[in-house]
Amino acid sequence: MGEGISDYTKFCIDLRRHMWMAGVEMELRRLIWQIAVTGKYISAKIHESNRKLAGFKNIYGEEQLSLDRSADTILKNQLQFSGFVREYASEEQDAVVHIGEGSEKYFVTADPLDGSSLVDSNLSIGTIIGIHNGSMMGDGRNTIVAALYITYGPLITMVYSAGKGTHEFVLNREGEYVLSQENIRLKKRGYIYCLGGLRKDWTQSHLQFVEYLEAEGYTLRYSGGFVPDINQLLIKNGGVFTYPALKKNPNGKLRLLFELQPMAFLMEQAGGSATDGKKNILDIPVDDIGQRSPIYIGSHFEVEKARAFLEKA
Ligand code: AHG
Ligand code: MN
Ligand code: MN
Repeated sequence: MGEGISDYTKFCIDLRRHMWMAGVEMELRRLIWQIAVTGKYISAKIHESNRKLAGFKNIYGEEQLSLDRSADTILKNQLQFSGFVREYASEEQDAVVHIGEGSEKYFVTADPLDGSSLVDSNLSIGTIIGIHNGSMMGDGRNTIVAALYITYGPLITMVYSAGKGTHEFVLNREGEYVLSQENIRLKKRGYIYCLGGLRKDWTQSHLQFVEYLEAEGYTLRYSGGFVPDINQLLIKNGGVFTYPALKKNPNGKLRLLFELQPMAFLMEQAGGSATDGKKNILDIPVDDIGQRSPIYIGSHFEVEKARAFLEKA
């Protein structure tokens, strides 16, 4: 059976071997691996097809599915016993949870189940994770050391970066994450655009940016799930996702800590960029775990074009 690796993976690279070859430090390798394993448990929960509301709301006033809560519990329990995590913050928790002894190195942020509103229509959903060293507050560029997302779709895939490129793995029938795309690189310019928010709520400068993309013949792809929408830009090597400032909500909808920082890290590691329209996402200080921000994320050309339109405002 080889060196403890099943015959199947002897011919391919599995997640643990990839991180070891990439020189990721041991504790971080084990933490990423443990989080990736929770993807199997969360997927099992999803396949129990319990799509009922839990009868609770999170601090954002959003109805929680029982799946939201069980995904959060699975993650928190797995991290509690990892021995590497000092604090856990999640979209489904009211506050930061001190799950370690107080001296652990890592701080983990989670959107345990992104796209809950899509579960009933069986569209792809995901889990978004940020891993920080020293603190999860402040600007992400100084704290985030790794990020990953798991997509629950026709395949279960996991995309991660520990600062040495962005890589995709597929969960195979043997229950192993096997490398499918190493060092994903965005082109300078893509052909896809994903538009969040309602047209009637967009600001004039955002509308002008969208009209520019439409005049250039971009293809609209928007599922309503941040994870599959971002995953599409990475796998198609370009394009732009926007959830902009809205007339009534200048900070837009998406959460800086739980959704935007991890995706910005992954996108930058793949040669892309992410901004709120002016500042890079990873340079925006997090003062409050529920902080929201407008987002323009994807290949450089489109993100810089957005910045140019918004600067005219
Ligand atoms: P969550 O299910 O974790 O609350 O996230 C939903 C988010 C994100 O997945 C997506 O990009 C956005 O909501 C879609 O918002 P709209 O329904 O307003 O388009
Ligand atoms: Mn979300
Ligand atoms: Mn969520």
